[in-house]
Amino acid sequence: MIFAANFKTNHTRVTTREYIESLSSMLENGDTDQEVFVFPPSTALDSFDAPIVVGTQNAYTAQNGAFTGEIGLDQLDEFGIKTILIGHSERREVLGETQEIVAKKFAFFKEQGFKIIYCIGEPLEIREQGDQAVVEYLMAQFDGIDTEYEDMILAYEPIWAIGTGRSATVEEIASTHKALRATISRPILYGGSAKPANIKEIISIDNVDGVLVGSASLDATNFYSMITS
Ligand code: 13P
Repeated sequence: MIFAANFKTNHTRVTTREYIESLSSMLENGDTDQEVFVFPPSTALDSFDAPIVVGTQNAYTAQNGAFTGEIGLDQLDEFGIKTILIGHSERREVLGETQEIVAKKFAFFKEQGFKIIYCIGEPLEIREQGDQAVVEYLMAQFDGIDTEYEDMILAYEPIWAIGTGRSATVEEIASTHKALRATISRPILYGGSAKPANIKEIISIDNVDGVLVGSASLDATNFYSMITS
């Protein structure tokens, strides 16, 4: 199983290091062979000696250059970072990334050999229209994306379940992941209010290969309890 922590705009450089040290020691002392990723904010990116893959939540499609406020490959190479989240709904909805921008980013980082956690998800009004509408909406988020890229992990994150405390139901996750599996042979993660209380149920659903966790990942002990659930 894959357990990925997306810190979003939480944690600092200092608390990220403390978190990674603490989670690493729990992982090393425990007996778990799960695959663990952490995506700290870009100010906290660094080289860590840890049984954890550290990735970036975002980056610009350039080696370096005049892109105020962005980071490029130079800044990632400094710390050996080769993993990126692309297409997160907060970047699409809050920061205005269109499918075209997302697809360009995917193509660029694929070309650079990055592992890409590619995020898709529907808003509530689409979910309320039923399964067929959801699948059509999600399929449109594959426009311009190489869905066969061997270093892609897909993350299905219904927008209405993110940060709301209301996870999708087992039936909703099962039917959506089953539909996605018809297109995607790579691992498929679920994200959206995954937490210690529902993690066992979520990871036992067919076609769920792991989770992408926001709020419940911010505390290392809490996240570790999910990894070992
Ligand atoms: P929450 O776990 O806080 O709902 O966030 C999910 C998410 O967006 C992870 O990328």
